[in-house]
Amino acid sequence: MRIGFIGGTGEEGMGLAYRFAQAGHDCVIGSRAIEKADAAVAELKEKDAGLPITGATNDDAVAQADIVIVTTPYTAQAATLPPLAAAVTGKIVISTVVPMAFEGGRASLTSVPEGSAAQQEQALLPESIVVAAFQNLSARKLLKGGPLEADVVVCADDKDARTKVMALAEDIEGVRGVNGGALANSQMVEGITVLLVSINRAYKTQAGIRIAGIA
Ligand SMILES: NC(=O)c1ccc[n+]([C@@H]2O[C@H](COP(=O)([O-])OP(=O)(O)OC[C@H]3O[C@@H](n4cnc5c(N)ncnc54)[C@H](OP(=O)(O)O)[C@@H]3O)[C@@H](O)[C@H]2O)c1
Repeated sequence: MRIGFIGGTGEEGMGLAYRFAQAGHDCVIGSRAIEKADAAVAELKEKDAGLPITGATNDDAVAQADIVIVTTPYTAQAATLPPLAAAVTGKIVISTVVPMAFEGGRASLTSVPEGSAAQQEQALLPESIVVAAFQNLSARKLLKGGPLEADVVVCADDKDARTKVMALAEDIEGVRGVNGGALANSQMVEGITVLLVSINRAYKTQAGIRIAGIA
């Protein structure tokens, strides 16, 4: 599978690209600037020169991709996504985005008119199949390498797309994909990340989540 990242040069995009490339997927790190994409690729190839990762502009990354992952900040998606809409028509677009703001060192959830960042993505990309996932995975842990101990709650209105992204999540060692139901449920999943930021500060760690009571 070829996975294209929009805004893939930040920690979350690079961390997911690192793990999916390790699992054998071709990853294309997209950026507004090709030089920045190439620098991100070079940094990841320092970990393992054989990783199937390339750099591209955001436009080229989504044009090449079977599946697209959005890893821009929430505040960037309203301007970034509409020009890419034609190139992602009919494709699965995964939202990792958390609408979070920091004030006085504290994180809070930003109110989104559509409900969640992922629902806003669906409104911005009406011809794509938006799936919400990976919002609770720490980028630093992804980049560090080694098995994770985490659940990825996957929310989507399209059942087949949800199942596909649950399986993709399990390509990351130690991750379990959990069926989170409808895309509207992504609002709660995004909110958990704000809670994790507070927990991380209290325990000086990079915490994730595990859902109890399911096989
Ligand atoms: N960091 C984490 O641990 C973590 C965990 C879970 C979820 N997330 C979510 O994942 C997303 C990415 O997180 P991150 O920490 O990697 O973010 P980031 O470093 O702040 O941004 C990622 C990339 O987005 C692009 N970007 C930034 N501002 C932009 C703008 N105004 N317009 C267009 N593109 C812009 C930049 O790429 P170019 O300059 O190369 O275009 C940047 O490298 C966020 O929505 C975050 O909520 C992060």
